[in-house]
This record gives sequence, structure tokens and C-alpha cells, in this order.
Amino acid sequence: MKTQTYFIESFGCQMNQSDSERIAGQLESLGYVHCDQHGNADIIVINTCCVRESAESRIWGHIGALKHIKEQNPATIIIIAGCMAQKDQQSIFRRAPHVNIVLGTQNIDRLADILQDAQPKKKLLESGMFDDDGLGQEAGQKKHQGISAWIPIMYGCDNYCSYCIVPYVRGSERSRPFDMVLAEAQAFARAGGQEITLLGQNVNSYGKNLPDNWNFPRLLQKIDREAGIPRIRFMTSHPKDFGAELIEVMASGKNICEHLHLPVQSGCDEILQRMNRHYSTETYRRHIGQLRSAIPDISITTDIIVGFPGETDEMFEQTLAFMAEIKFDAAFTFLYSKRSGTPAATMEEQIPLAIKKSRLKRLMDLQNSISLAANQYWVGKSVEVLADGPSKTDPSVFSGRTRQNKIVLWPATPADFPGNTRLLQIMSAQTFLLRGEAVVERKD
Ligand code: SAH
Ligand code: SF4
Ligand code: F3S
Repeated sequence: MKTQTYFIESFGCQMNQSDSERIAGQLESLGYVHCDQHGNADIIVINTCCVRESAESRIWGHIGALKHIKEQNPATIIIIAGCMAQKDQQSIFRRAPHVNIVLGTQNIDRLADILQDAQPKKKLLESGMFDDDGLGQEAGQKKHQGISAWIPIMYGCDNYCSYCIVPYVRGSERSRPFDMVLAEAQAFARAGGQEITLLGQNVNSYGKNLPDNWNFPRLLQKIDREAGIPRIRFMTSHPKDFGAELIEVMASGKNICEHLHLPVQSGCDEILQRMNRHYSTETYRRHIGQLRSAIPDISITTDIIVGFPGETDEMFEQTLAFMAEIKFDAAFTFLYSKRSGTPAATMEEQIPLAIKKSRLKRLMDLQNSISLAANQYWVGKSVEVLADGPSKTDPSVFSGRTRQNKIVLWPATPADFPGNTRLLQIMSAQTFLLRGEAVVERKD
């Protein structure tokens, strides 16, 4: 019998990537084998994101393009999973009748059951959306392979930032018991894993539903001491729940990487309040000060939204000034996108697209110059780099990351292989990367 194959395309954040691994795990347990091209696959999964309208439009395009694959091979099973599937179940079936299964974010672990049911019938099938029972989150995890893995520690979000759709499509916060997280990290370490990223929409509120006063700093410390993983990362942190206990654990930990992603979203207090973020620029500034004095070489990255409803030129200038003051290593910058059902969508004074775009450009220009200066700090220093593999565009160049999560490129040598950790000297810096040379091979 011909081997049955599956193809998965993932959009959105790391949480979706991690969910895709769970989907893949279930498909493999049913005997499907991964393939790289959707044209040949028996099952095609699109794992969707709806955080911004731009993501959604792109995904609609991809869903539409699958129609002719289905026409050529009607037996292909098309599955739309993830956040947009959660939000738009009915309209996906209506607009794209070639889709077989729409799988909500909280039904991922039922895929195997649904499929076994769907296959003989070959008909549209709904997956019973959004039970929010918190159960079944552990099934079908694909065994982590390779160098780096994402490990979810919590699902959902209770923060309801006024612009954000995520709480509506991912449900309320549920934390995984610490022993499951630890066991998963330890198993990955035994399989040769070098780096994990603990994942959650707001990792700092880990443990709220768990017994025994579990919180994120305690979990992180336990993983640091007992997982046997040399590089531990985590994201995303929320400034309102960030504080001294976590800084202390980060500073004293051996394997915790010197990098923090702490989205500030805006440098204007009035906007932060309207975003329902529950902190001020002053609190944020204080966190960064404490963090930098505890861990001098830490890199700090952030997310910024421009053009939130009611953002005046003056308020935007405050964001620019805040960026110039804090000097982030990097920032992910977004045009505010109206998400219906969120409070910000009905706020007055929506900002015209042209203004949003010109603000975004100014912000990016400023940040690029700050990122370049932050990278130049590393020139002449020796850094520990975890090798990812040869560069995709030039195989004579190897690529890896520092503990600060900066990309480093260096001339490949026979000693280089993915997963190897080596010491490199940084020779030059660009806005988005560093260039290095192997310290041992220098002959000066
Ligand atoms: N839970 C994480 C990530 C959420 S989504 C956090 O709180 O940081 C990632 C980023 O997308 C957010 O930090 C925010 O900057 C951006 N984002 C979310 N909703 C958005 C919207 N409606 N328009 C533009 N950007 C948005
Ligand atoms: Fe969205 Fe805010 Fe939750 Fe992040 S913390 S997922 S921005 S609601
Ligand atoms: Fe997108 Fe869902 Fe992540 S909306 S950003 S994939 S949580």
C-alpha cells in the first residue's frame, strides 16, 4: 500500500508552531509520513493566525489556492486549524467548501479521532469548537528532535489587551503541571537537545490554576537546575507580571539565556492605559534598569504597535523618545490592525492607514540605527555561539545564535555542525546580524 503523507503549513506565533508539532505527532501515530510539498500530500493542514488582518488575508489566499489541488485529487483531506479556524469556522466552510475539517485551537488533540471518523465518510465535519475544558492538552506531542524545541507551559490568555484577538481564540489561561514540563525538557535533553523555549502568551502568569504556589520564577529555576538543557529561553513576558523574583532567577541561573522579550507596545502612558496593559512607562523603565544592573550583557527586545486608536503625533513622539531612551536590541513593529470583537475596534479616532505607515517607517528607521549600535557593542568580543547549520543562501557560511539571541555568521570549517557550541570572536556588526571568526583558528 502506498505510504500516506501529510503536509503542514504554519502561520503566526511559536504557539502555533508548537501546535503544528502536536498535529504532526498525531498524524504520524496514524501512520502518515511528513512531505515537503502540498501537491503530493494526502492530508494538507494549514495552521492559521488571525492576530492582524494582513495575516488573515494571506491565509485566505492560501486556502483558496488549495481548491485546484482538491479538484485534481478529490481524496486529499484539507484541514484548517488554529486561531482563524477557531474564529471563522462557519465562514471557512462557506467560502471554501473544498475544506474537510476545521480544527479549533482547543480541539487539536482530537484530530486523530476526527480523522478516523472523517475518512470513510469524506464529508465536511465540524470539530465541536472551543470546549475550554483544558483537557486533552497533552496528547499527540511529537517527540522533539534536533537542536531546539518549543515547550508550551501554558495555554490561553486572560489579559484582554484592548486590541488583541488572542484571548477570544485561545481561551482562558491554563498552566501545564510543572512535572510534565520538566519531563518534556529532560526527554529532549536525553535526545541531545541544546535549547528550549518555554512558551505561553504570558509566561509570567504561569501557575495561577496550579496547586502549591507554582509561579514562573520557580518553574524556570527548576528547569534551569534539573532539565540538563544548556540554553533556556522563554516567551512572552508581560511587563505587569514581571519583577524582582524573576530577575533574581535569571541572574543566578546557569543555563538561562541572557535575553528577554518584553513587549512594551507603546511609550505613551495614556495609550498603555487604553490598551488595558496595566503598567506605566515608569514601571517598565524600572524593570529594565534592574535587569540591566543584574545582568549587564542582557539583550532586550520588544513589540510596538503604531497607530492605536486616538494616538496623536505627540503620543507617537513619546514612543520614539522611549525607544531612544531604552535602546532595545530589536523591536517587532506592527501597524495597529482592527480586530472585530475587541474593544479597540469600536474606539473612535481610528488612525488613517497613511499616517500609520509613515509612523511605522520613522519608528523602524530609529530602531534600525539603535539595533546597529547595540550590535556594534559586540565587535571584538568573544561569544558562545550555538550552530544552527550552513546558511541557506551561502553554504560556505555557517549560521548560529549567541545566548543573547543574536544571529552570527562565520566561515564554515570542517569542525562546524548543527548543534555544536563554539567560541567565536565578533569581527563586524550589521543591523540584524553579527559576523564572527573561530577564536581557536585565529593566527595573530
Ligand atoms: N502574548 C504576547 C504576544 C501576542 S501577539 C504578548 O502579549 O506579547 C504578538 C504581538 O502582536 C503583540 O505583542 C502585539 O504587539 C501585536 N498585536 C496583537 N494584536 C494586534 C493588533 N490588533 N494590531 C497590531 N498588532 C497586534
Ligand atoms: Fe494579546 Fe495581551 Fe494576551 Fe498578549 S497579553 S496575547 S497582547 S491579550
Ligand atoms: Fe496568531 Fe494565534 Fe499566535 S492569532 S499570533 S497564531 S496565538
